[in-house]
Amino acid sequence: MSTNVKNILAGLRIKIFSDGADLDSISEAYQQKLVKGFTTNPTLMARAGVTNYLTFAKEVLRIVPDLPVSFEVFSDDFVEMRRQALLLADLAQNVYVKIPITNTRRGSACALIHELSHRGIKLNITAMMTLPQVRDVAAALHPDSSAFISVFAGRIADAGLDPLPVMREALEILKPLPKAELLWASPREALNIIQAEQMGCHIITVTPDLLAKAKNFGKDLNDFSLETVKMFYNDSVKSGFSL
Ligand code: E4P
Repeated sequence: MSTNVKNILAGLRIKIFSDGADLDSISEAYQQKLVKGFTTNPTLMARAGVTNYLTFAKEVLRIVPDLPVSFEVFSDDFVEMRRQALLLADLAQNVYVKIPITNTRRGSACALIHELSHRGIKLNITAMMTLPQVRDVAAALHPDSSAFISVFAGRIADAGLDPLPVMREALEILKPLPKAELLWASPREALNIIQAEQMGCHIITVTPDLLAKAKNFGKDLNDFSLETVKMFYNDSVKSGFSL
């Protein structure tokens, strides 16, 4: 990534987190110092071939000792979820425990969120997509306890809806909670980093692939257009097309 793009990203107010479970990518992102935290989820871990959760988590924390790292509980039962949450929180000071907003039977996680937050456990409430969910979580959190509120803007957009009004209102709802930060989850394009920045969102978590697309930030559009024309031309030549 060019120094110019690095400067553009470093100049943003929003904190960029890296979303993934590939240890090499996590290590590279940490060393590049472009991101301010890390998120994972069970799907990303499965995709990366993780089989031993605890070994994986400890390795991530060895690579990232001093930035927020979110690990998700995976039980569908709230008692077991609580045990997993306490175990994960115990691993290191920089762990944020990811709690899904409901279990798979639509049971609300808010009672557990209330308990953990009031115990001072740092949380990342995940898979959120509606404003009533944000209101319920805001009511459950302790005002002095740190929490990320992960609203899946990209999935809202996948459903054909504009996520921006939801994100703006979520920010309003969280205003009375100084330690609750709105996290734009599941971004779908590099533009989302700019949109999240402009609306005052605190954090956006991006996959390494998406962050790589930010290499085009600040590019002159005439140059970008020419680069695209050249790409079409070179590929036609390479393929030996004739008509
Ligand atoms: C955030 O913490 C999530 O892991 C992530 O943004 C989910 O993205 P997806 O909706 O593309 O699965």
